[in-house]
Amino acid sequence: MPALTTTSDGFLLHGEPFRIISGALHYFRVHPGQWADRLRKARLMGLNTVETYVPWNLHQPDPDGGLVLDGLLDLPHFLRLAQEEGLHVLLRPGPYICAEWDGGGLPGWLTADPDIRLRTSDPRFTGAVDRYLDLLLPPLLPHLAAAGGPVVAVQVENEYGAYGDDTAYLEHLREALRSRGVEELLFTCDQADPGHLAAGSLPGVLATGTFGGKIPDALAELRAHRPEGPLMCAEFWIGWFDHWGGPHHVRDTADAAARLDELLSAGASVNIYMFHGGTNFGFTNGANHYHAYAPTVTSYDYDAPLSEHGDPGPKYHAFREVIARHAPVPDEPAPAPAAKLPPTPVALDRRVPLLPQVAALSDPVPAEHPPTMDELGLRSGYALYRTAAPVGGDGLLHFSGGIGDRAQVFVDGAPVGVLERERHDEALPVRVPRPGAALDVLVENMGGVNYGPRIGAPKGLLGPVSFNGTELRDWLCHPLPLDDLAALPFTPDATTTSTGPAFHHGTFDVATPADTFLALPGWTKGQAWINGFHLGRYWNRGPQHTLYVPAPVLRPGRNDLVLLELHGTTGTQAHLTPAPDLGPEKS
Ligand code: GLA
Repeated sequence: MPALTTTSDGFLLHGEPFRIISGALHYFRVHPGQWADRLRKARLMGLNTVETYVPWNLHQPDPDGGLVLDGLLDLPHFLRLAQEEGLHVLLRPGPYICAEWDGGGLPGWLTADPDIRLRTSDPRFTGAVDRYLDLLLPPLLPHLAAAGGPVVAVQVENEYGAYGDDTAYLEHLREALRSRGVEELLFTCDQADPGHLAAGSLPGVLATGTFGGKIPDALAELRAHRPEGPLMCAEFWIGWFDHWGGPHHVRDTADAAARLDELLSAGASVNIYMFHGGTNFGFTNGANHYHAYAPTVTSYDYDAPLSEHGDPGPKYHAFREVIARHAPVPDEPAPAPAAKLPPTPVALDRRVPLLPQVAALSDPVPAEHPPTMDELGLRSGYALYRTAAPVGGDGLLHFSGGIGDRAQVFVDGAPVGVLERERHDEALPVRVPRPGAALDVLVENMGGVNYGPRIGAPKGLLGPVSFNGTELRDWLCHPLPLDDLAALPFTPDATTTSTGPAFHHGTFDVATPADTFLALPGWTKGQAWINGFHLGRYWNRGPQHTLYVPAPVLRPGRNDLVLLELHGTTGTQAHLTPAPDLGPEKS
């Protein structure tokens, strides 16, 4: 008998009436040194439960390798901390998680197979899922409620009704969980629409909804779909995420609080999405692609009650008041904002240009025609494609099939243009000074599509490249995952501006580590690391203009900042500032 069961209109936990008041907190978007702090703040807001997805792509980076379960991916540790805080956990292991996460959590090695029918009962897909669950579930079973752990419910797939209608696939997933020892309550979640609910749910499995407004209508849809059972909003959207080049989305606090009150007054259970959004560190952000490709920014602040940096915002206090009307809230003071580092300038005074260094970073793969990044086995980062132009002159460089997702083109090392998937670019006018001139194409994977039919769309050069109709052949392809920068031969460089892709290094001193935000005025676009921790992508296109630096990344004394700047700078200083700048707000 699972710990959490359902009645005709609600839940029982260990036989006692129970209402789930949960908030989403993705452990993989928060530095592990801050998990305990965020969980405590969840309890203090009045939550009795937290919800997390599980990102398959990070936990199983290699199809034949084991499970990665350390550092930011130490899910058992996160579950132990949740339990210590007295919180229950809703677990959402996918296999697909959406979540504005690279590829919706589906591993690149899986989506690289163009024939596989993702999220269906195609045995190539379910076989891979089964092998993953064989690895994932044994270390998690001790943390399920049946074994005395905090996990009281487990989700099957994610918003499946928005994607497909292969009920046999959902049944396969249910059996895959059950046969591996998951006895807890299972649930599906779908947008509150009759078609989605019908295609995405399973008989005997709790059906929940995802919505942020029109509460009576959404609850009525759920009730129409399931005449009996608990009503639950499994994703109550209280904010939203941002794309590069778009606004910073915010949601009015009073409106979100009023809708939460409406949900709780109706007797429904809730999972606030997000309680604490955190950050898409490293190369982990996803992207949308409807009419055009739109990558998600590094911050996943989500305008959530607890900000990206873990401080309570207006929604934290408003939601706490609303929850207190319906359930006991701890009789302890609300948390205060965390200390911030004092403003600290960082001089970046050592440099190494990228293009001459690619051989030090990776062995080249020769190819007659340019392979995609997926064919190169590269899951994230950049690839440099290098060849020689067979003829000179003015003309059009044509990339048939386009590029994924952004390409910088260099002739004899000089930048000659940029192509972007967002703009459907396929051609660039260039002047090639002579036959045999060096042609470099640096391609950036800006994040895998996480929603809809384009999940798994390839990256890199997506077809043959020609100059004035003559195909360019004999490429050297350098995969640049940038997961180890130790070999970079930085040298002191006193120039105050710079152009072209280059790594820049600087140091700064810290007395007591505290949260801070990296601001890069005058810099254009690239990646940032502090003490080897990959903070993620920056881009002066905005909306986001600072990157969150979690306190545990810093150490007392000397600290290192490394930037990969893809274009140019007007100065060579960075700034650590005490406040974030996520851009102009739009509600
Ligand atoms: C859906 C998905 C989530 C997330 C939200 C938007 O509800 O289930 O993973 O993508 O949309 O933030």
